[in-house]
Amino acid sequence: MTDVEKLLSSCLFEVDNATNTKRLDDIKVAVLGKNGKLTEMLKSLRHMPEEERKTAGAEINAAKSDILKRIEAKAITLEILEMEKKLASEFLDVSMPARVRPSGSIHPLTKVAEEVADILSQYGFVFAEGPEIESEYYNFTALNIPDHHPARTMHDTFYLNYPADSNEGRKLLRTHTSPVQIRAMLANNKPPFRYFSIGRVYRSDYDATHTPMFNQIEGLMVGEGVSFAHLKYLMTDFLKKFFGVPKLTLRLRPSFFPFTEPSTEIDINYEVKNGRIAFGTGDKWLEVAGGGVVHPNVLRSGNVDPSKYQGFAFGFGLERLASLKYGISDLRGYFESDDRWRDAFGFNYVTK
Ligand code: DAH
Repeated sequence: MTDVEKLLSSCLFEVDNATNTKRLDDIKVAVLGKNGKLTEMLKSLRHMPEEERKTAGAEINAAKSDILKRIEAKAITLEILEMEKKLASEFLDVSMPARVRPSGSIHPLTKVAEEVADILSQYGFVFAEGPEIESEYYNFTALNIPDHHPARTMHDTFYLNYPADSNEGRKLLRTHTSPVQIRAMLANNKPPFRYFSIGRVYRSDYDATHTPMFNQIEGLMVGEGVSFAHLKYLMTDFLKKFFGVPKLTLRLRPSFFPFTEPSTEIDINYEVKNGRIAFGTGDKWLEVAGGGVVHPNVLRSGNVDPSKYQGFAFGFGLERLASLKYGISDLRGYFESDDRWRDAFGFNYVTK
């Protein structure tokens, strides 16, 4: 037997007896690797005379290909065996409960704010904002709210422990989004313009229907000949779109706000059908908004000439709109960050 034949037979024997793929790799490296036995033999060919080199080279290469073939075949057998062993030893209990992965969802207030912004921008209303820490001037005075008005009392308003400014008065947490009307007008005092705002407001109140912080939607449209009729049209169309109903009746109740004259409280018709509230049908009324024709003093505060321009304004409670549309009863749930509440009322962009 030549050295090559000896190596070949012992190598094939080892391959046949290998019991795992790791062992197979080791054999391959020991024989065919960089310093493997057969590789060494190939290297030593260069010291041989030409004729011998030819036959020895052919023999070595034939052995090499025999070994590789045998290793490949054995590898397949061993892989199958190892897989079967693994499958037999690892038991997958498909009836086990899945691990819960907490997932986020869209808060109903975010959802409704986006819906409202989407609809109002269809009428050309542009988003405007103002600070949550406001001054007495913007929150009250500029909006024609007189010094003696009860809304100004410490009882309702959170005043900040901060020195009063000689022009703007004390600092406070804004009690409504209406000061954005003034800021928007001052930032662009050439009508016509249409603004809306959505944001947090603060009042000293806490029970099932009042939280010290809540959200309002504010709207303002100013131009030549803008009237109460435009407000009525916009509110009807907006609310139809918002509640997704083909018809809706508005009831405009005379009311009073210092910043509008005349002022109105806006109700929509509804009835309870199969335990659910249905809007646009029935003869019951629900208040949803306040509004009116912008008071001349408010236009003046915004640097707008009331003898040339008129406007309307309106205000909604965001939580109230969300509660009516999505059947959420207790206001406090909105702000308690309870996962169970969020699971019940939150929105998933993909599925809802
Ligand atoms: N600011 C009012 C409030 O907080 C809501 C409101 C009523 C806003 C009438 C308006 C409006 O713009 O015209 O109760």
